[in-house]
This record gives sequence, structure tokens and C-alpha cells, in this order.
Amino acid sequence: MSGTTGDKVLVTGALGQIGTDLVQALRERHGNESVIATDIRESDGHSSVEGGPFIILDVLDTDGISRICQNEGVGTIYHLAALLSAVGERDPDLCRRINVGGTISVLEAAKVCNLKVYSPSSIAVFGPDSPKHATQGAVLNPTTVYGETKVTGEALAREYLGRFGVDARGIRYPGLISYKAPPGGGTTDYAVEIFHAALKEGHYECFVRPETRLPMLYMDDAIDATLTLMDSRGDSLGESRAGYNIPCLSFSAEELANAISERVEGFTCDFVPDVRQEYADSWPDSIDGSVAESEWFWSPDFDLSSLVDEMLRGISSS
Ligand code: NAD
Ligand code: SER
Repeated sequence: MSGTTGDKVLVTGALGQIGTDLVQALRERHGNESVIATDIRESDGHSSVEGGPFIILDVLDTDGISRICQNEGVGTIYHLAALLSAVGERDPDLCRRINVGGTISVLEAAKVCNLKVYSPSSIAVFGPDSPKHATQGAVLNPTTVYGETKVTGEALAREYLGRFGVDARGIRYPGLISYKAPPGGGTTDYAVEIFHAALKEGHYECFVRPETRLPMLYMDDAIDATLTLMDSRGDSLGESRAGYNIPCLSFSAEELANAISERVEGFTCDFVPDVRQEYADSWPDSIDGSVAESEWFWSPDFDLSSLVDEMLRGISSS
């Protein structure tokens, strides 16, 4: 290994929904200059990632990742570049190339540069034969290509840990709800779009049925869980370290719409399912995060009510 000795942090896919919040949180901790945001595209000029270094980087460019890490003294990489479920199912080959190929690139760079890696998984690893309250060890037979890429991503992280000692960690994120950046084309996007539509139009046409229930989390909690996992001592983490279920919320699309109507006068919601209903139906309703809770002691702060309050406040003031 030609290890870097640096303590800088690099984030791939930094302009996306999670990167926008994560880069800000990392810069508050480490200082602006110590967190290098990267993405395959330019920022639109309004992203918070512009407050520090930003580099155009295709995550399939292993040598490019290694070069930046060695030149800049990077010690940790948060690998967020991926295609989400709805976009991924429209182009499965590209989804495999970016999600699996990108993870291999990052892990290869980590092997060469001695990096610690955060690489998120998803509740999409579960399939219709998993229990509706999904346990950590439940069978993983996803029916989406996106879900397959996440199962493979977890396996790769375990392989690089076992064979090369790469300290790779990950969380099976549920649907994440935030207001600072738009969601990137996933099945759970309705749970973000609904807030913007409620405040702008007073109406939303939701693409899943009202009774559709999925695991969800407010972004602040997801960022806190991510940083808590990355701060944890490696020897406290067990065999789930590449893809932890975490404790999260579970509510139906109708319960979300009702919580918004209680706060936005006159808001109405129609439910007109499209192909994303199939992906949602293949995923669990809720998640058993007890292994994460017992190994690194994390639980969320936001419930449905405080999440809805924060989303409406955040969108109204931005
Ligand atoms: P996003 O779609 O909002 O952002 C992904 C970013 O990756 C985009 O800015 C895009 O430009 C970039 N990108 C795409 N191809 C790239 C490439 N070849 N090289 C470099 N950058 C590239 O995604 P997100 O919601 O921020 O998700 C980040 C990670 O978290 C993904 O692995 C996703 O699967 C996972 N995840 C997200 C959620 C969620 O609800 N947001 C839930 C579960 C898991
Ligand atoms: N929120 C993501 C999606 O819907 C789940 O990984 O694709």
C-alpha cells in the first residue's frame, strides 16, 4: 500500500440529496478546506458544497480517485455516487455499471491509499420474501436491479475488509426526507415531493397507493447515524458492518398526507400509482435496527410529527 497519512475527507456524489447535507455536516466538524466534495457534474451555483473545495470526478475513474487522495492527503471517503431505484430500473446496465463499478473503484482506491470507506446500502436489499418488519439477517432477494447492486455493494465491502483490511462501513438507509436538495430519482421521492407540492400548489398527485408503508427517516437523523457509525471503534462492529439496518420511522403515504393537511390548510392529495408502486411493494414496511442499536448505540430523534414540522419550516424559509 502507498497509504496516505492525511486526515482530509472526500465525498463522491456530493451534489446529491445526501451529499448536500453530509458535506455541510462534515465541514462543520473538520473545517471547509478539509472536506473535498466531488461529483460527475457541475453544481448549479446554489449548492452548499460551494463553500469549500469541489472537484469534478467520475467515480469509475479509480486512478483519478487515488490521485486526488494521495495529492490532497485524504484518509476517509464517503461514497455517495449512485443511481437510485427509479432511475436505475430505467437503465439497468448503467445502474450496475455505476453502482457496482463505482463501489469497486472506491474500494480499490481505498486498498491502494489506505482509506476508511463509508458506502451506503439501502432497504432495497430486501425483496418480497423478506419479513415486512425486516430483521438484520433476513434473506436478501431483491427484485430490482438497484437492490441487487446494493446487495453486491455490501458483499464487496465485506470482501475488501476480509482480504485487504479496508475499513468499510455502511447503513441500509430507508427513504430519506430532506429539503436542501431534491431527491435523485428513487421510489421514496414522493415523501419529499409532497411537501414542496403542498406549499406551492396545495395539491399533490402521489405515485404510490395511500396504504403504501415504507421505512423513512429525516435527513438530520441519517447524517447523525452516518457520523456515529464512522466514529465507532472498528472492533465494536460485527458482521453487519457493511450494511446495518438502523432504527427508523414507518408510515403510510396517507398518514404522511394527513399529517401535512393538518398543517397546510386546504392541502389535498390524490393517489395515482405508477411503476414505482411495484418497487415499493417489494420492500419492507419497517426495519428492525436492534443490531445497530446494540453495537453503536444509535436511535433517531425525529418522529413523523417533528419531521413534518421541520420540512415545512425548512422549505418555507429557503
Ligand atoms: P442522488 O441521486 O441524490 O445523488 C447521487 C449523486 O451521484 C448525484 O449528484 C450524481 O450527479 C452523482 N453521480 C452519478 N453518477 C456518478 C458518477 N459516475 N461519478 C460521480 N458522481 C456520480 O443520491 P442520494 O440520495 O444522495 O444517495 C446517495 C447514496 O445513498 C446512494 O448510494 C443511494 O443508493 C443511497 N441511498 C439513498 C437513499 C435516499 O433516500 N436518498 C436511500 C437509501 C440509500
Ligand atoms: N430512497 C431510495 C430509493 O427510493 C432507497 O434506496 O431508491
